[in-house]
Amino acid sequence: NPLPAFADRLTRWQRAHGRHDLPWQTDDPYRVWLSEIMLQQTQVATVIPYYQRFTTSFPTVADLAAAPLDAVLAHWAGLGYYTRARNLHKAAQAVVRDFGGAFPRTAAQMATLPGIGRSTAAAIAGFCFGELTPILDGNVKRVLTRWAGVDGFPGEKKIENQLWTLAEALLPRSSSDMPAFTQGMMDLGASLCSRSKPQCAACPLRADCRAHIEGRTAELPTRKPK
Ligand code: ADE
Repeated sequence: NPLPAFADRLTRWQRAHGRHDLPWQTDDPYRVWLSEIMLQQTQVATVIPYYQRFTTSFPTVADLAAAPLDAVLAHWAGLGYYTRARNLHKAAQAVVRDFGGAFPRTAAQMATLPGIGRSTAAAIAGFCFGELTPILDGNVKRVLTRWAGVDGFPGEKKIENQLWTLAEALLPRSSSDMPAFTQGMMDLGASLCSRSKPQCAACPLRADCRAHIEGRTAELPTRKPK
């Protein structure tokens, strides 16, 4: 099989065509964490000015931990889903209390903090520390169900477990590729591999994408059963 590995095709594509200009593309886990939380329910263009104001007022996790909750919530006003801001503040205090103010360096430790789930922890650990651990958000579920031709609702536990296993198996071998790989999964899902009008002609994965080959992009991922 002369085809380069999935990870090699994806990282090359990300380096050539993915996003490189986002303000949270740093290796500061505090900033990456903040951006991932803001981006969970909010579009990139909306998040950017909030992210800028937040990091100007609270430049470090220690500054966030020391701030009054009201000040944190004031910076969140308009973003909605305020539980995100309350958990952010609680988690910052836990970093100071339980980790001596140093943001944890492994996804497993990060996932013990309030509001940080498995995929968010993996994004931070992959971007900042090159940890070889996969993300699996809604966009990535779409990329993987299509590429592997996985039938079944991805919100169902059994299918989700299959997707985590698949995501693990597709990781690059080198830590140094993890930032581009992780961003590539996000960027592909947010751009070419869109829900309704996927642009398969430009996709680095089209040669072995089951959904593309079988003409099934419109039916994958499987919709929520009624
Ligand atoms: N959505 C979630 N994380 C993101 C990131 N790092 N860049 C762009 N969009 C995102």
